[in-house]
Amino acid sequence: MLNNNDNVEAAGRYRMLKKLGEGGMGEVWLAEHSSLHALFAVKKAYGEKDGIARRCLRCEAERMKGLNNRHIPYPVDILEEDNSTLLVMEYVEGITLEEYIRKNAPLDEDEALAILRQICGILAYLHSESPQIVYRDIKPSNLMISPDGEIRLLDFGAAVIADGKSVEDAFGTEGYAAPEQLNGGIIRCETDVYSAAAVFSYMLSAADPSRPPFHPVKGKELGRFISRSSIKLIDSCLEEDPDRRPANGGALLELVSGIKPGRERICEQFKGHLYRLFMWMLVAAGCIMLMLRYGGDPRPVLEISVIIMSLAALVWGIIRDEFFDENGFILQRSWNIMITEKKGRGIGEDQS
Ligand SMILES: Nc1ncnc2c1ncn2[C@@H]1O[C@H](COP(=O)(O)OP(=O)(O)O)[C@@H](O)[C@H]1O
Ligand SMILES: [Mg+2]
Repeated sequence: MLNNNDNVEAAGRYRMLKKLGEGGMGEVWLAEHSSLHALFAVKKAYGEKDGIARRCLRCEAERMKGLNNRHIPYPVDILEEDNSTLLVMEYVEGITLEEYIRKNAPLDEDEALAILRQICGILAYLHSESPQIVYRDIKPSNLMISPDGEIRLLDFGAAVIADGKSVEDAFGTEGYAAPEQLNGGIIRCETDVYSAAAVFSYMLSAADPSRPPFHPVKGKELGRFISRSSIKLIDSCLEEDPDRRPANGGALLELVSGIKPGRERICEQFKGHLYRLFMWMLVAAGCIMLMLRYGGDPRPVLEISVIIMSLAALVWGIIRDEFFDENGFILQRSWNIMITEKKGRGIGEDQS
């Protein structure tokens, strides 16, 4: 591990300022170039002895090198020193999406959709590369959010070329990884689509998929009002069978861009008003029928109407409290979401 005292300089060029974070693969430090005085992020892999981490870091740099997207940090240098390898890259300001969700979840649906749209945009870019790149480890700790809400994707350590063959190493993170990642199946663009939906579900539910029971909350299980389109989207992206999911980041982006929760909310409210109007019309029709039955004498009609209306109000109150939220939206109750404090692990990372 990098130590603040004995590793202040890297290859004589970078001065380590502070640790930015760490993951399954290594530590990342904020560093200043000694002559340019520019800030960079420097990633150093754990476990140098067997060389696996060093190879992974080189692969990561190799994947990043060919990419040109402002939502992905660019690699600057690969340094070899003291039997270790360092990857120098663009420093991304902000906090991880993981920290952001922990502080703010459950997020408003519009905000969660805005974040998902950016993730889809990055995936659409990777999936349209030739050959296609499957990222394989979409999760909030690999995403950064800037103060103005811009999303950046870090950590290309798990990214692979989608060549239609099954991949030997089981990279991914339990809870975010698609079933084919866990079963040693063929890795394809739909694999990233699953993980993006798991992040979306986390933002809306506040239930972290990387904690027991290690699966994302399905759309139908979300215990608050979410537009029907978002519910359908989550459920289609979390299908076990990759053929039933949106095919890639581009297809997902199109679906997400078409979701307008505000409009759906107004439609639902309108339906609620129509329903209430219908109920009152029924009561009015009942009153008129009673009036006709009692030959125009209004007193018994008024008495019976008051009783009927009180009963209707009582029944409506019970139904509303039980099944509707304060805006009149149907509540989707979730009975089976269990969250515990145990932290999830990365698949393929050191499980000890
Ligand atoms: N370019 C960067 N700029 C700023 N912070 C970064 C950068 N790269 C990584 N980090 C921080 O370091 C953490 C771990 O980095 P990551 O590349 O995901 O490592 P690992 O491969 O070990 O998972 C991230 O969650 C983030 O907080
Ligand atoms: Mg990571």
